[in-house]
Amino acid sequence: MENCLDFEKLMEMEGRYRANLINKITGYKTANLIGTRSGSGLENLAVFNSVVHIGANPPYLGFILRPTSVERHTYENIQETGYYTINQITARIHGQAHMTSAKFQREISEFESCGLKPYYVKGFEAPFVADSAIKIGLSFEEEHRIKCNDTRLIIGKVIHLILPEGAVGADGDLDLESLDTVAIGGLDTYYKGTKLGRYAFARPGEDLRKLS
Ligand SMILES: Cc1cc2nc3c(=O)[nH]c(=O)nc-3n(C[C@H](O)[C@H](O)[C@H](O)COP(=O)(O)O)c2cc1C
Repeated sequence: MENCLDFEKLMEMEGRYRANLINKITGYKTANLIGTRSGSGLENLAVFNSVVHIGANPPYLGFILRPTSVERHTYENIQETGYYTINQITARIHGQAHMTSAKFQREISEFESCGLKPYYVKGFEAPFVADSAIKIGLSFEEEHRIKCNDTRLIIGKVIHLILPEGAVGADGDLDLESLDTVAIGGLDTYYKGTKLGRYAFARPGEDLRKLS
């Protein structure tokens, strides 16, 4: 028997229970650490599971920011400096990455408290995560207030992309599995990815063609 839950039933649920459930129903999510620095130079790092591709030409990425009803250091720093980094979480650092979600005081660097090394690129003020395989430096582009729940979509332009030597294939492909990157379920579970197949561009009337 299926378990059918309507909107009223969902809204009757205890808040944490509903958050656990709803955060998992869209499946595996991207696992990233966003690195920033305040105007006065304080480093900050936090885990985000809502990074999305906005477009490739030119390259834009977005993420969802929770309501600013409490201090949001990542957001405040982006507002102050206009720059931030997005760093893919690898299996090796997923525990430290999760710890960055704790409510540290503004003066405390999550890099230091969670045991993650910052990495700087000359001329770019936001800190990258040294142990992340895919490091992306962005400049803030625009934000959109989402009226129905007071969250924000923050959009940035990719101005630095740092990848391990030899990671990019001849056609721009990245093998995420060999880069050890992980996915997040909800707000508390980390998964390793297993490739099922890579396929050629699909066209009506043509057979499915597996590339690797
Ligand atoms: C797995 C996971 C994913 C998260 N994803 C988001 C997210 O996409 N957006 C968000 O605003 N907060 C997200 N959070 C919460 C932030 O990590 C948390 O509020 C953190 O303290 C923010 O730090 P800051 O105030 O230094 O920016 C997530 C937390 C966890 C554990």
